[in-house]
Amino acid sequence: MRSYLLSDVDMGAEEVEAVTEVVRSKWLSAGPKTAAFEAAFAEALGAAHGVALSSCTAALHLALDALEVGPGDEVLLPSYTFVATANAVLYQRATPVFVDIVGPHDLNLDPADLAAKVTPRTKAIVAVHLAGFPADMDALMAVAERYGLAVIEDACHAVGADYRSPSHSALHGRKAGTIGHIGCFSFFANKNLVTGEGGMAVTDDESLARKMQRGRSHGMTKSSWDKASGRASDYDVVQLGYNYRPTEVAAALGLVQLRKLAGANERRRELAAAYRRELLGLPGLTMPFAHRLDGAHHILPILLDEPAERPGFRHALKEAGVQTSVHYPPAHRFSQYWAEYGRHAEVPRTDDVAAREVTLPLHPLLGDEDVAAIAALTRQALVAEALPV
Ligand SMILES: Cc1ncc(COP(=O)(O)O)c(C=O)c1O
Repeated sequence: MRSYLLSDVDMGAEEVEAVTEVVRSKWLSAGPKTAAFEAAFAEALGAAHGVALSSCTAALHLALDALEVGPGDEVLLPSYTFVATANAVLYQRATPVFVDIVGPHDLNLDPADLAAKVTPRTKAIVAVHLAGFPADMDALMAVAERYGLAVIEDACHAVGADYRSPSHSALHGRKAGTIGHIGCFSFFANKNLVTGEGGMAVTDDESLARKMQRGRSHGMTKSSWDKASGRASDYDVVQLGYNYRPTEVAAALGLVQLRKLAGANERRRELAAAYRRELLGLPGLTMPFAHRLDGAHHILPILLDEPAERPGFRHALKEAGVQTSVHYPPAHRFSQYWAEYGRHAEVPRTDDVAAREVTLPLHPLLGDEDVAAIAALTRQALVAEALPV
């Protein structure tokens, strides 16, 4: 029986060569490759600065820190995200305020709920471009401007995605992650651009970039590479910093993966379109974002009609060799969040959708025939689940 992985990565001879070169150089922590990756990534996105980091979680943390979000400040963010988005808010001892999603067809932040939850304590918004589809940044930025809020984009799913403005505003055509004050990216093992562990913060604001550069290495005014390469001998520590440095190995992989990104995202788009042709309109199944042609197509979420169907449906697919996942258990329901921040969160559409979501395999190494096979098995699993036991 064939089996179908939820995600897979395109690692080939070029990546092996790039890593080998770094290993031979014997300088493995952030250095010249990291600087080259930062420059290439920022240029590809049209951002002025890129700060490479050990993860997107580190990027979110340093972004909030650089924007001076701290104790007593409220941060508006979705609960429908990976928990790291919310954890970063707690690192700064700020208060996460969970905002609902638009609904089953659009899993991104609802601008109306966002505006309704602004208080005098609100300092920032963290927008997540779920599944790789940019949120309505025109509406989000309008709320931010009205109330003087900072905007961070958690663009972990949306690397390389173009923003399509609903009103054809000046934001149209910008890359996801370059619209707010700081954009955060992940290069984790299953992302569209993979370095194993790794992340990047991008910004057009030089002072924010400097703060994040220092923040990633203990708040020091000189980098470890400056010292190791003899370009600096002393340094000051001008802010509380962390060790969020990336490795040269990750940067070398990132440079190769960046060259593959546009082609890989295009392949994801074709595969997502094939899934839509196979599954759209089936009774018992909803496809979020089904009419969006933009985006980075990071994952392929589908919704069942009822939460009770999910375990049986997933089990049937597992038995048929199809790996599935759930994106996401909502952050406000985790024990860490529930008592203090979750219990009072009013996010009914998040609760509804999150209980019915299943993620099907999507990655650029899938063939057209694989999607046809997975779709056929999905149809069978739907029917099996609908039958009385
Ligand atoms: C939406 C979202 N935010 C944040 C993260 C955290 O990224 P990282 O694993 O690079 O810290 C992830 C990835 O896992 C994610 O999907």
